[in-house]
Amino acid sequence: MEKRNERQVILFPLPLQGCINPILQLAKILFSRGFSITIIHTRFNAPESSNHPLFTFLQIPDGLSETETQSRDVLLQLTLLNNNCENPFRECLAKLIKPNSDSGTEEGRISCLIDDSGWVFTQDVAESFSLPRFVLCAYKFSFFLGHLLVPQLRREGFLPFPDSEAEDLVPVFPPLRKKDLSRIMGTTAQSEPLDSYLHKILETTKPASGLIVMSCEELDQDSLATSNKVFTFPIFPIGPSHIHDVPASSSSLFEPDQSCIPWLDKHETRSVIYVSLGSIVTLSESEFLEIACGLRNTNQSFLWVVRPGSVHGKDWIESLPLGFMESLEGKGKIVRWAPQLDVLAHKATGGFLTHNGWNSTLESICEGVPMICLPFVWDQLLNARFITDVWRIGIHLEGRIERREIERAVIRLMAELEGEEIQERIQVLKDEDLCIIWIESFNGEE
Ligand code: UDX
Repeated sequence: MEKRNERQVILFPLPLQGCINPILQLAKILFSRGFSITIIHTRFNAPESSNHPLFTFLQIPDGLSETETQSRDVLLQLTLLNNNCENPFRECLAKLIKPNSDSGTEEGRISCLIDDSGWVFTQDVAESFSLPRFVLCAYKFSFFLGHLLVPQLRREGFLPFPDSEAEDLVPVFPPLRKKDLSRIMGTTAQSEPLDSYLHKILETTKPASGLIVMSCEELDQDSLATSNKVFTFPIFPIGPSHIHDVPASSSSLFEPDQSCIPWLDKHETRSVIYVSLGSIVTLSESEFLEIACGLRNTNQSFLWVVRPGSVHGKDWIESLPLGFMESLEGKGKIVRWAPQLDVLAHKATGGFLTHNGWNSTLESICEGVPMICLPFVWDQLLNARFITDVWRIGIHLEGRIERREIERAVIRLMAELEGEEIQERIQVLKDEDLCIIWIESFNGEE
């Protein structure tokens, strides 16, 4: 471990699994370069501090009721969190900054705040303390740039598209298709709050000191090259965060089922399809049953993560037909949460049926695991298009959650020539140097 440089970085993750993982990974990278780390976090989805004994964790109240924490409306949750957290965050930051300014010494001096673009009040707070703020972009950078254009497209009358199922490309947002953007925008009822939130994200990101991006030239070349049309500050593409050489520790909000690994050990190389839809996606009961039957009909081994509560109206997997697990004769395993990085790195894992959250997508690329794309919302639709239409390292289900479609896609990926070709292409992408070490020059100041 390198010597502490006696500078402190404060990080404030958005309380969603897909945002907590990259920010804690970034914290580990910065710690390994000598920074002291303080994480301010909400009570909702609080990270497990005991997994990171070298960091200081400070919890602030978030004002979410029990019902609000269980809502499936992420936009509503983010709006409430932004409304409720400003004062507690300001007070917490004031306490951290005050002792240092009084002492007038360098010791523990706070270099900067790093938080998620989804926090729209932190820029003002940071400015009031003259603290540089860096924004962490947990999406593919081309999505980050593109999604900020949506309110403008709507204002100018380009949206909504007359045909919400149109297959042609959105000119300002390639390789997204019009039908994808229609899904991203959601219903008309959501358009006003979504546009207003996106507008605030843009306006509170522009004055920041810089943007840290979980991507790299190889995956985001065009958008990185054109970003100076939107932002004047420096952009730091750090590559997939988990490939930096920092000690592993879990930032999972759920307890990973470690029995996955000995189960995989018993399987042949690249013979298992791993299925996980991340931490937010939910399914109707009939969609869940279609996936179950599709997987069973492939006769391939599968490891499937079903989060408790992710099937509407059900606790877990009780709606599976009687005798379903027995009928698999050991070929299927269902868990509540998996140690995903270890599963993807396991030699038995040959494919990943994924919702294409950006973390899962990067993790799969870094482990050279081809994908079956089943995106549901938001950036997942763009990530899936890059997987299938640009890098050609996966198969798209086009939203068809039907047993025959799932069975066919798994067979194509795991047992046919098409799958071998996809495997070769992802290996080439994996072998590119997907990481830009900007961190050596980062001192957390403008
Ligand atoms: C959310 C959004 O849904 C996604 O679109 C956006 O890109 C990031 O924020 P999430 O749905 O949780 O993220 O998906 P993803 O980005 O893939 O992150 C999930 C993380 O949880 C990954 O780092 C993955 O390794 C981890 N995970 C998932 C586990 O550790 N175990 C599991 O069983 C499933």
